Amino acid sequence: MKFFVDTAEIAAIAELNDLGMVDGVTTNPSLILKSGRDILEVTKEICDLVDGPVSAEVVATEADDMIAEGRKLAKIAPNIAVKVPLTWAGLKTCKTLSDEGQMVNVTLCFSTNQAILAAKAGATFISPFIGRLDDINLDGMDLIADIRQVYDNYGYETEILAASIRTVNHVTDSARIGADVITAPPGVIKKLADHPLTDKGLETFLADWAKTGQKIL
Ligand code: E4P
Repeated sequence: MKFFVDTAEIAAIAELNDLGMVDGVTTNPSLILKSGRDILEVTKEICDLVDGPVSAEVVATEADDMIAEGRKLAKIAPNIAVKVPLTWAGLKTCKTLSDEGQMVNVTLCFSTNQAILAAKAGATFISPFIGRLDDINLDGMDLIADIRQVYDNYGYETEILAASIRTVNHVTDSARIGADVITAPPGVIKKLADHPLTDKGLETFLADWAKTGQKIL
């Protein structure tokens, strides 16, 4: 399973990247706002830091403008994945840019039918939003499972990028279902290492080791 980190904070990306935990990065306009950085500058820094795909999102709503924005974002670096919303204008942008050989991430996906359209438009990634479905008392994980089944039924090559991940259980469930990628905030990725029995076991080992009076170094 590939891990993308869902942030535009350079320090957080670098920390996880040094641990080999970053296969790519996703950003969106809200994350750019949170970073306080210029989109072109911060995206370039992220692309220089990380080898894998870095999603940068267009903000226009008409296809012609989206395509122009997408082409400008794509010029930042070869590892840019242009991120477009799942609207007809976004799908048209996806088709145009994909035909040009550009990676495209279709975002704000909330249904299996939308995911089918994205695959047919040549999307590299489809981003179904788990947490935002859970927020309105639907089951985001059901959507990931449905898309996995339908994509497998027809051999669609678009990768399922499970997004809007809020908990470590979202990561486990996405892995079980067979999502190709998860994108999660740095805090969620860091929590994946936590287990109370690991902490308790280590405490016991260290206490016993102290009693031996030995040193390794
Ligand atoms: C990723 O591509 C999405 O922009 C992100 O996961 C959205 O997460 P949120 O619903 O927690 O804002």
